[in-house]
Amino acid sequence: MAMEAWYMDESDADPRLPHHLCPKESVPLEHLAELGVLYWHLNPQDYENDEKLRQIRETRGYNYMDLLDICPEKLDNYEEKLKNFYTEHIHGDEEIRYCLEGCGYFDVRDKDDRWIRIWIKAGDLIILPAGIYHRFTLDTSNYIKLMRLFVGEPVWTAYNRPQEEHPARKEYIESFTKKVGVALEAH
Ligand code: LAC
Ligand code: NI
Repeated sequence: MAMEAWYMDESDADPRLPHHLCPKESVPLEHLAELGVLYWHLNPQDYENDEKLRQIRETRGYNYMDLLDICPEKLDNYEEKLKNFYTEHIHGDEEIRYCLEGCGYFDVRDKDDRWIRIWIKAGDLIILPAGIYHRFTLDTSNYIKLMRLFVGEPVWTAYNRPQEEHPARKEYIESFTKKVGVALEAH
């Protein structure tokens, strides 16, 4: 099944709960694409020989790859890392994550600064653009195995909000302005 995304409520209850609005407000893939968030569904059992994954990596230049198991036994400084993952931040590069097992939530800000919650499960590959405000949390199942992809030597540095002067943030914001400009010219 395709990945699900929805607008979050404002409650400060456990972040691992779904945080649906009432009534539920789903977010379609096209809306995510407008924010620069890209999505593929692949076969997680076949990640070592998957031709589709190979093509995506080749086309986008993702030559770096590693696997990250998010559970207390396999991740050093588990609590601290989870806290950092859930602190709103940007990166200077794309964040590319392919879920091989388990599930979790990537939250991204939309153009009006509202949180969209993206529920990632086995087989879901998402790309968050450089400069988008986002965060990550496990859900109540408490486990995820992620493949991380990157162009060249990976840089995991997170810049916590506010980052309005960061070049990646400025470029991300400009990418919307440019698209609007093009649309206006066409009329
Ligand atoms: C992150 C973890 C989930 O970078 O890979 O947020
Ligand atoms: Ni991040």
